[in-house]
Amino acid sequence: MKLTFLGHACFDLFDGKYHVLTDPFLTGNALAAAKADEVAADFICVSHNHGDHIGDAIAIAKRTGATIVGVAEQAGLMGENGVSAVLGNLGGWIPLPFGRVKLVQAIHGSGLPGALACGFVIEIGGKKFYHAGDTAFYSDMALLADEKLDAALLPIGDFYTMGPADAARAAKVIGAKVTVPMHYNTFPPIKQDPAAFAALCEGSSKVVVLAPGESVEL
Ligand code: NI
Ligand code: MN
Repeated sequence: MKLTFLGHACFDLFDGKYHVLTDPFLTGNALAAAKADEVAADFICVSHNHGDHIGDAIAIAKRTGATIVGVAEQAGLMGENGVSAVLGNLGGWIPLPFGRVKLVQAIHGSGLPGALACGFVIEIGGKKFYHAGDTAFYSDMALLADEKLDAALLPIGDFYTMGPADAARAAKVIGAKVTVPMHYNTFPPIKQDPAAFAALCEGSSKVVVLAPGESVEL
């Protein structure tokens, strides 16, 4: 199971057969490690309707035939663009050909009236990932420990989401085998040092810092 960071909140989860992309903001992201017209995708998880998360989702879905996965209002909006979409909602597992996805709470604006922002628990390749989306730290993140996660992908940028200190608290209560920081350095307000975040997590969680384009095998 290969996890590749493509920049900002965009990851490629690849089990050898299926590519699951998250929040593919590539065009307009100077730090992106892939181009929208070359990235592979079978499913695209979209956490909310802010531009740095929907990004190239529709264009990639149109080119690849990938299916968008998100909360009903979000995925439905994208489905109106002639791409296939799975309309879920918070708390329910969605079975998919590679495994399953559960949409989970994210404390953040959705950017879309009537919609809730979300994060994802993604089961693929025998591994379990938590992609937090954009969120504040909240105490119920501790319940994610029950998921026995292999990896937690957490925003550390501050300003729009939790920053390094709160993300370190989140990493501790979530208790994933590895924590991968995301959503930093893309814009000036979210400039952060991932090594400083890793230092904050020392003794409580193992941090794997991926530069855009880097992968880790899990
Ligand atoms: Ni946002
Ligand atoms: Mn964002």
